[in-house]
Amino acid sequence: MTTPGFAPEWLALRERADADARAADLLDVWRSTVDREPLVIHDLGCGTGAMGRWLTARLAAAQHWVLHDRDPRLLSLAGASLTGPNTTVQTRQGDLTALRADDLAGASLVTASALLDLLTAEEVNGLAAACVGAGVPALFTLSVAGTVELDPAEALDASFGAAFNAHQRRVVDGRALLGPAAATAAVEAFEALGAIVTTRPSPWRLGPDQSALAAEWLRGWVGAACEQAPDLAAEAPGYLRRRAEGVHVVVHHTDVLALPGAS
Ligand SMILES: C[S@@+](CC[C@H](N)C(=O)[O-])C[C@H]1O[C@@H](n2cnc3c(N)ncnc32)[C@H](O)[C@@H]1O
Repeated sequence: MTTPGFAPEWLALRERADADARAADLLDVWRSTVDREPLVIHDLGCGTGAMGRWLTARLAAAQHWVLHDRDPRLLSLAGASLTGPNTTVQTRQGDLTALRADDLAGASLVTASALLDLLTAEEVNGLAAACVGAGVPALFTLSVAGTVELDPAEALDASFGAAFNAHQRRVVDGRALLGPAAATAAVEAFEALGAIVTTRPSPWRLGPDQSALAAEWLRGWVGAACEQAPDLAAEAPGYLRRRAEGVHVVVHHTDVLALPGAS
């Protein structure tokens, strides 16, 4: 079953903003460390394959992609979309938090996009241990940073923002999600294991040319905030109505590159 938050339509709506936001210079840093071909790239939580579509367009080398997701429908869309004369693909359905060093051995890159904030501290520690144990680079992009700017600003922005962040950090089925603490948790996990870590901001900047995404994001942001803090529900309709008249949104994210340390 497709989790509502990961509907292909939502992933498609955000793909251009994600592509514009990713910190492309981290690719150059990673690329300068890898000379073996074909490149073998694992995409964890690949969804419909947006990260692969972005990255294949920037890599001339022959590539083999290993796509991981637990959602079979998203996985098959991703597998079908990564095509090219130099590109081969395999899909692996399952829980990526169960991956260990042996599963990632030989990778040129382990990557993920919009994933870490959905995980727990233990799960991020486990992924860092798997990457470092395999001695492979990791590029984890677009983790929410917990800061949002709206223009024009309103006093209620802070209340909705705080409730949304608390929602992202909620406990689901006994799992305490990292939400906006994810990038820092990943940096600490990799550094504790001796990796060399670089971070970059990767904000969405949503103006009038991204009004459909801004509106959908805002509905989800307000909805999650109200779920977390029901007192806000009375304010939500008026807030959304005022915002529908036009708003610029900056949603801050963080990209994390972790390279194996000297062994
Ligand atoms: C927010 S979506 C991002 C999709 C894609 N990376 C992108 O940037 O468009 C998160 C993806 O991670 C997958 N996912 C989340 N937790 C997972 C887990 N524990 N095991 C496997 N897949 C997982 C979801 O099914 C979903 O496809």
